[in-house]
Amino acid sequence: MAGGFVAFSGDSPAFQAKMTVYVFICVVIAAVGGLIFGYDIGISGGVTAMDDFLIKFFPAVYERKKQAHEDNYCKYDNQFLQLFTSSLYLAALVASFFASATCSKLGRKPTMQLASIFFLIGVGLASGAANMYMLIMGRILLGFGVGFGNQAVPLFLSEIAPARLRGGLNIVFQLMVTIGILIASVVNYFTSSIHPYGWRLALGGAGIPALILLFGSLLICETPTSLIERNKTEEGKATLKKIRGVEDVDEEYQSLVHACEFARQVKDPYRRLMKPESRPPLVIGLLLQLFQQFTGINAIMFYAPVLFQTVGFGNNAALLSAVITGSVNVLSTLVGIFLVDRTGRRFLLLQAAVQMLSCQLVIGIILSKDLGVKGTLGKTEAMIVVILVCVYVMGFAWSWGPLGWLIPSETFPLETRTEGYALAVSCNMFFTFVIAQAFLSMLCAMKSGIFFFFSAWIVVMGLFALFFVPETKGVSIDDIKDSVWKRHWYWKRFMRQEHDV
Ligand code: BGC
Repeated sequence: MAGGFVAFSGDSPAFQAKMTVYVFICVVIAAVGGLIFGYDIGISGGVTAMDDFLIKFFPAVYERKKQAHEDNYCKYDNQFLQLFTSSLYLAALVASFFASATCSKLGRKPTMQLASIFFLIGVGLASGAANMYMLIMGRILLGFGVGFGNQAVPLFLSEIAPARLRGGLNIVFQLMVTIGILIASVVNYFTSSIHPYGWRLALGGAGIPALILLFGSLLICETPTSLIERNKTEEGKATLKKIRGVEDVDEEYQSLVHACEFARQVKDPYRRLMKPESRPPLVIGLLLQLFQQFTGINAIMFYAPVLFQTVGFGNNAALLSAVITGSVNVLSTLVGIFLVDRTGRRFLLLQAAVQMLSCQLVIGIILSKDLGVKGTLGKTEAMIVVILVCVYVMGFAWSWGPLGWLIPSETFPLETRTEGYALAVSCNMFFTFVIAQAFLSMLCAMKSGIFFFFSAWIVVMGLFALFFVPETKGVSIDDIKDSVWKRHWYWKRFMRQEHDV
């Protein structure tokens, strides 16, 4: 399993570790959980733009769409249609709390396996739906899968990665999310011309990665942290040797044992999260979720086909544009993987805020000037909008997208890690739900002003990153308190009561 290079962490204790083939396999398999999440994000926009689907479940929306020319921004505005998209996130929100418990009590690996089972049942129900109830039930079970998967996978990745490569390996999760979204757009593109059951194929497609996750997870290991946490110390040490590819893991092992002993003294992690010393990772972890969603990314991701149709592209052209933005998303995430452990997290957050802000502003101006309410967009303007959307997606894909998952997975100390992370995941799901449920109505009410709305949020989040998000590049995951919080100009004031367990 050896091969690769010895990775030492930056400011924190340097543990010996190679990037082993086994770790690579574990990363790829676990990240399939992200692929299913991405597929679910990407598939809804396409399915809800398919006539067969609308006729079967949402005939009123179909009627309105036929007379669409009346109001560009309002033709899809329907609470039930939005519920189809958003129910998944509400379910995921609730599920992440159960997932946090299974993550601690059973381990990261069984939590991923549970996710794959939820996914499989959900896919069956949604793609075979004979009525609205089955459809929504299916989405809810998929949401359970997302809640369990998004809880376990990023934690798993951060815990098995050597410190120096943690950022890049963790972002493989986001990479798979983007690949999932892209695959979904391609599937939407082809299945939209298969009548009348193209939508069933589209929804059923998620079954394939769910099966890969279920069987693939039999090959992967449990993380040493989780094993030691559950008193399986020998197994924990053996796994550490296996994934690090070196014999001498004593130092890292001791640091894990130490972190676990400390964690064990904390009987009520949620109460501990309310204490001042938990404030920095908690506030940052939660706000990053709000900010990630209020970049407006999912307005584009869920509704890209609908959005492009709205601004004057035809049915197929709209789906095709979604394929284009999806590809940009994947490629730019690769850039993020390359940069995150080199430039650090802060640089990416700040750089991207400027990039995304500029794009949103220009899109808003073009749409408010040229589209109006009933007009259509000229060819050139439409092209410019697509290009700007791509540049915007690029910025998101190497920053706020992946870092929204990475930073909370590496900043909570072990004693509150699964619980803190669960709060972050559920917070992400909550705001994803809010956007999914509200976006079409907001678009209808605010018209092109929606882009200015998101721009204002980007300004706020940029300032937050500038002043409150410290650099965590290269710091060992169990050493963040000493190396980061205690040295930060603002957060250090919360670190005083550290012995008050
Ligand atoms: C976000 C999703 C978003 C996706 C886009 C993820 O990090 O959590 O809400 O749709 O990125 O690539």
